[in-house]
Amino acid sequence: MAYPRTQKLFSKLLHGADYNYEQWLDSPDILADDFRLMRLAHCNVMSVGIFSWALLEPQNGHFDFGWLDQLMDQLAENNISAALATPSAAPPAWLSHAYPETRRVNVQKIRQPHQRRQNFCYTSPIYRDKVATINRALAERYHNHPALLLWHVSNEYGSSACHCDLCYAAFHRWLEARYGDLDSLNRAWWSTFWSHRYTSWEQIEPIDPSMQALMLDWQRFISDQALDFFLAEANALRQIAPEIPLTTNFMQPDVGLDYWRFAEYVDVIAWDSYPRWHQDDDAITGMRTAFYHDLHRSYKHGQPFLLIESTPSVTNWQGVSRLKKPGMHKLASLQAVAHGSNGVQYFQWRQSRGGEEKFHGAVVTHLNSENTRVFRDVSEVGSILEKLSDITPTSISAPIAIMYDFENEWAIQYAQLSGSVHKNYQETCRRHYGAFWRHGLGIDVINARTDLTPYRVVVAPMLYSLSLESAARIEEFVRGGGIFVTTYLSGLVNESDLCYLNGYPPTLRRTLGIYSEELDSLTDQQQGSIIACAGNSLGLQGSYQFHHYAELIHTESAQVLASYNSDFYAGYPALTVNAHGSGQAYFISPRTEDRFLQDVYSSILNRAGLHNPLIKALPVGVSAQIRSDQDRRYLFLLNFSDQPQQVELTADLHDALTAAPTGRMITLLPYGSSILTTNADST
Ligand code: GAL
Repeated sequence: MAYPRTQKLFSKLLHGADYNYEQWLDSPDILADDFRLMRLAHCNVMSVGIFSWALLEPQNGHFDFGWLDQLMDQLAENNISAALATPSAAPPAWLSHAYPETRRVNVQKIRQPHQRRQNFCYTSPIYRDKVATINRALAERYHNHPALLLWHVSNEYGSSACHCDLCYAAFHRWLEARYGDLDSLNRAWWSTFWSHRYTSWEQIEPIDPSMQALMLDWQRFISDQALDFFLAEANALRQIAPEIPLTTNFMQPDVGLDYWRFAEYVDVIAWDSYPRWHQDDDAITGMRTAFYHDLHRSYKHGQPFLLIESTPSVTNWQGVSRLKKPGMHKLASLQAVAHGSNGVQYFQWRQSRGGEEKFHGAVVTHLNSENTRVFRDVSEVGSILEKLSDITPTSISAPIAIMYDFENEWAIQYAQLSGSVHKNYQETCRRHYGAFWRHGLGIDVINARTDLTPYRVVVAPMLYSLSLESAARIEEFVRGGGIFVTTYLSGLVNESDLCYLNGYPPTLRRTLGIYSEELDSLTDQQQGSIIACAGNSLGLQGSYQFHHYAELIHTESAQVLASYNSDFYAGYPALTVNAHGSGQAYFISPRTEDRFLQDVYSSILNRAGLHNPLIKALPVGVSAQIRSDQDRRYLFLLNFSDQPQQVELTADLHDALTAAPTGRMITLLPYGSSILTTNADST
């Protein structure tokens, strides 16, 4: 598929790092050596200028671009591109002092001092104006510069709330736009509860967890306000440099921003990944990281994304961060590419001498040498990426989607229900994802607004908050032949956190063929069991454990495939399937052990004829991903275990780096990885 705005960007796989050149201006020898080292490490891009506002505008309205001119020229001379940042993530001290309104106010209504970074108010017109001025200046100066490849807008927008008067006034306007009048708002929020009825917009203060619909809307507002701030930044660049693609670096999804909305306005998704390798089971960490990569690919519906930050070594802000064992750096980097990243970038190129991040991993450490294990690992990845440049136009075909919806996550977080202590929504989505990941299939991670028609199987665990529109989309998907799976704690409230009466929304009730009556929650020490029904259509056998949640449901048109086998609800349905139109809708009533999910999903995949065509089976801890276009297929085999593993192929493939034939049995070293290739039509 062609993505015109990223064609030049992705003419090759990108390899590079955040480069804090401005920290070394009085060490020209170090700077000169950097370019030699970058060439040695096969780097072709650097993210620059991210935290440099204090140097670019040392005094209000006085700019100094001399050092950045020099950096951009040197990058161009060395054939390295620039992802040039706007500096809004870290305002200079003079700005925060001259304009106190630009500093955030905390929930106790205390204005915060100038400290750290990402410390500004998204609403402040003065801050927006100052940012637009410097962004325009950067765009005017560099939009024709040969090094400029990508705008890196700001850095990791967050969702820390600002409680200043400007933000509250903007929130009230936002509510007015959403609800029209206070009567509608009071109805939608069920505000008669505890006498919260509002008679003027100004009475609404987003500090009240008892009003869950209010807090949910506040979260939406913060996300929208961050997006609005981003759009103001982006517009300043686009007006002057419309041809340069633009991104902003996302973080893990639980930061409280609706990245799906941001995704509509960036040209390419970029994200910062910091897995905690070698602390727990690396296969679980690998699965978790795969889930995040797939989510980032899904934000723009399969378009290649960019791993724009990852650590070459340790991550200093994690309480514990293990050194990467041999093979791990290459494995983690290739995992991103396997899931659709068209590059691997690091934080950071060179360790700073001072400040909070001086002990964060970097390509070049305080040793100031290329003779390090990390530098060699990085160079190896760089040289692999150079050889793989044909892969950039390929994509991943995903017949399966896991629905992990942010607004649903926020609603679940605020809800007080039985079993509140172990809601674990994201982790639950990942567990369901993991049961598919083991099969080496492409999986998208979608939200409740996503079009479901491209998928064969859609799994939506704990879809607590469900709009009528989403429920209707699910029904249509199943009617049209899709396989849908959902679980306990689904379909209970609408988008304002108002409970549905009469069971589920009618569309969902029809689709699932059940209704739900009660929810039991168990302590961490308690468990129960369920048992497969004789002759069930998924071929499940025996019993499985459940924990945390057990929903008590009744079937209407659905068939029971497994039942509870313990407590007073023994005999109640634990797994049902409803044939609806030409599809099927499954319901899992309790939170089960993973083995149950693995058995259920293996059987669903078998029945649907979905399998990775290039492999026979995958050992536990090994993952497989295919990237392909009309000509070629690339198979990535990734071993997240500390043991050697063997994978049997269904066809004779070639090593993608050496072109040597590989035979059908591939041996992967501990933390080993392998990229194989074949024509698109083989097998
Ligand atoms: C990221 C951030 C970088 C750097 C890095 C350290 O979240 O964008 O600037 O701080 O973390 O891991």
